[in-house]
Amino acid sequence: MGVETDQQVISILRRIYNLKYHSDKYKPNGEDESNNNVIVNVFKSEPITWESFVSNNLDFLDFPLWLAELVDSQKLKVAHANAIMKLSPDETLMKRIADFVIETEKNAKETNQIVEDVLRLKNKTGGPKRSLISYPHRGFFGDNEFSGNASGWLLVDLILLYKPKKVFDPMEGSGTSRDVCRIMDIEYEGGDIYSDKHKFDVLTDEVPVNDLTFFHPPYWNIIDYSKAFSEFLKKEIPPKENDLSQCPTFADYMEKLFFCIDKLLKKCKRLAILIGDVTRGTEFLSPQAGIIWHYNERVEDCWIKEQLHEYARYRYEQQSFVPHSHEYVIIMKGDLYG
Ligand SMILES: C[S@@+](CC[C@H](N)C(=O)[O-])C[C@H]1O[C@@H](n2cnc3c(N)ncnc32)[C@H](O)[C@@H]1O
Repeated sequence: MGVETDQQVISILRRIYNLKYHSDKYKPNGEDESNNNVIVNVFKSEPITWESFVSNNLDFLDFPLWLAELVDSQKLKVAHANAIMKLSPDETLMKRIADFVIETEKNAKETNQIVEDVLRLKNKTGGPKRSLISYPHRGFFGDNEFSGNASGWLLVDLILLYKPKKVFDPMEGSGTSRDVCRIMDIEYEGGDIYSDKHKFDVLTDEVPVNDLTFFHPPYWNIIDYSKAFSEFLKKEIPPKENDLSQCPTFADYMEKLFFCIDKLLKKCKRLAILIGDVTRGTEFLSPQAGIIWHYNERVEDCWIKEQLHEYARYRYEQQSFVPHSHEYVIIMKGDLYG
């Protein structure tokens, strides 16, 4: 047989794993040169074709093998690999983690974090236990390098409480909701005005029908999102007029915010809005108060969420306020409610 070292065996099986579970990406039909070449070269002394080798060996491609490879390549600690195995017999969940780690090219530290979070997630039942919520452990969802990111655990709580079949996030930023839904196996659509891959402008684009819309808009101009995305994507991204963080006045911002809310309410069962106050100098502006007042009959609930990290960085220098360390989650009934 043309395979001589364990490393070659592992590498070939990894490729076969890709062929089996990512057949759209790693097509065994000649389009994926690197996979085809490796397999053809390693097995050139074999009298069988690599296609038949693949089909003959698919049974060997189980999840433990994939995990073993992560351990061997020092991307995952043995203890964590064992921990993932404890998620068994939920092989679908294990595969989802595997896919996630491969596709998002997570490093060893992040992989361990995912495993810990998924174990935490498995033990979680129901939604928040009270209306004062706090998530000291941010979780691996999304990216905490992105200014204004939210903890994915809020979305986990919303999903556990309201049990949506489909979630929509029109301003997904670093993709926190996308990651949560992927691990929880919830149908998801979402985008962002500055996203390369999932471009979506909530002011102009069509909103899909969904069970739960998670809406985390800019808190007016506290963060300039063209700058935040320029830093995040490490390239210059010019500001867009429809970016809510570019609104020239608070009145203009509130008008656009209400336009978005009206539009989103039409297509969902529930709309969950995460929003904070805008405090600057001695000025106190509260989009939350405006929303609750304007949409009072639609409001189903309102929670206070502890804001743990953001405030220290940019908001409270030379201000007359005690540092605000809270924001709000407003739950509203959409047109499809009930
Ligand atoms: C508070 S951030 C969302 C952060 C996200 N929840 C996360 O965890 O990364 C607000 C986002 O709204 C986006 N945005 C602003 N105006 C928009 C518009 N008209 N349509 C879609 N996205 C918009 C910004 O680009 C920014 O990413």
